[in-house]
Amino acid sequence: MKKIEINRQLEYIERVRQINEGKNYTYYILTMGCQLNENDSEKLCGMAEKMGYSKISDMNKADLIIFNTCCIRENAEDRLFGKLGEAKKVKENRNSIIAIGGCMMQEKNMIQKIHESYPFVDVIFGTHTLHNFPEDLYMAINTNKKLEDVLDIDGEVIEGLPIKREDKIKASVTIMNGCNNFCSYCIVPYVRGRERSREPKDIIYEIQDLAKQGYKEITLLGQNVNSYLRVENEKGIDYERYNGINSFATLLRVVNEIDGIERIRFISPHPKDFTDDVIEAIRDCDKVCKLVHLPLQSGSTDVLKSMNRRYTKDQYLNLVDKMKKNIPNLTLSTDIIVGFAGETDKDFEDTLDVVRKVNFEQVYMFIYSRRNGTPGDKMENQVPDKIKHERFDRLKALVEEQIEVKNKEYIGTIQKVLVEGTSKNNEKLYTGRTDSNKVVIFEGNEELIGKVIDIKIISEHMWYLKGAIVNG
Ligand code: 5AD
Ligand code: SF4
Repeated sequence: MKKIEINRQLEYIERVRQINEGKNYTYYILTMGCQLNENDSEKLCGMAEKMGYSKISDMNKADLIIFNTCCIRENAEDRLFGKLGEAKKVKENRNSIIAIGGCMMQEKNMIQKIHESYPFVDVIFGTHTLHNFPEDLYMAINTNKKLEDVLDIDGEVIEGLPIKREDKIKASVTIMNGCNNFCSYCIVPYVRGRERSREPKDIIYEIQDLAKQGYKEITLLGQNVNSYLRVENEKGIDYERYNGINSFATLLRVVNEIDGIERIRFISPHPKDFTDDVIEAIRDCDKVCKLVHLPLQSGSTDVLKSMNRRYTKDQYLNLVDKMKKNIPNLTLSTDIIVGFAGETDKDFEDTLDVVRKVNFEQVYMFIYSRRNGTPGDKMENQVPDKIKHERFDRLKALVEEQIEVKNKEYIGTIQKVLVEGTSKNNEKLYTGRTDSNKVVIFEGNEELIGKVIDIKIISEHMWYLKGAIVNG
């Protein structure tokens, strides 16, 4: 099934390539949202380039315009509609093809809205049909008809699509699709479907291949990575065994053995599924970074219950304690939503309390955004915008205060830094990241790119550290 599907798309890639031959067509892609979407976009880029388009960053000059959308918060929609207005003008000038895909297209009523308000869009595809992009594009070019290819069911896990990666040192590898958790604020389970894992061997082959190409850092991606293969195990779904991989912990251990890879990261795990075997694997595997992203969402047990997170404040704090005790040099980052329905001042104080206690390395803060079709949207006691913003500002002030103190603690320490390239703001300086994912800027040379080197931290600047190479 999988194989046939891919061969068919490879044929369409070839057909579009022939149509485009000698025309020097270009494409522009806008990616919204999370790293999973970015990874999907790398596949879209891979397909587009094989079809004869070359990438440009100016939408006004593009023959193919692709929007890979996100719908996790409301502001993404406004952004898309603004961009569509601009794309319309480009189409009028150069007859470009406009394709929209991704999570937002899986939302109820969205397709209808696009048809009504943006009838010039040529291709609409969803999260489960990304791999059909060559065929959809071919049909749109050839028939001059609008193409709509969105499925409501959970798509297959498709292997073997071309991929054009953004970076040469760091690569993301999706290990599972979908989510079964249904946190009550979140739209992801509705637009990405049920949890399904890739087969172990496909993941390992992909990472081995990345290592051969010279990649040094791998980020394993999924909505809930630590339940990797759980659905398959529970349902008794047969998958090919590979080196004993049957869980997230065993996957980490096998990836850790791949020569050439220096660092392994993963996002995001769910605290409720953070089993001891995963803690032990992080502790034992030298390449697994000791920065763990552990989404808190709220520090209040009552809010966590109405969010359907299935852990309490104490359970979260106990888990953090256990992890800190077992994993030397552990640092943590997190996601927090402020102003979820029913959140009282006291609930919010609980969130601040957890932030104070855990002392996160980094906190990604979000104001609750009501999503149509989720239980959270229907809850009473929605928090007024003004209070949401006030709480957000208080949380932000606390986090920044903590980060400043933490940054100061880096000064004088020697950090292992994976060198990524020259600094964006100053070509003469080089940049890399610590194990804890802090950006470090330093004087270096080209030969260091892709190497992990010792750097002594000299000063801190809120969002980055400055350092000097330690010789010898
Ligand atoms: N409103 C605000 N933030 C949200 N997130 C998910 N859904 C919403 C929402 N409706 C946040 C969560 C999640 C991160 C990726 O986005 O914190 O971990
Ligand atoms: Fe959304 Fe919760 Fe699933 Fe994460 S675990 S994708 S927050 S439903």
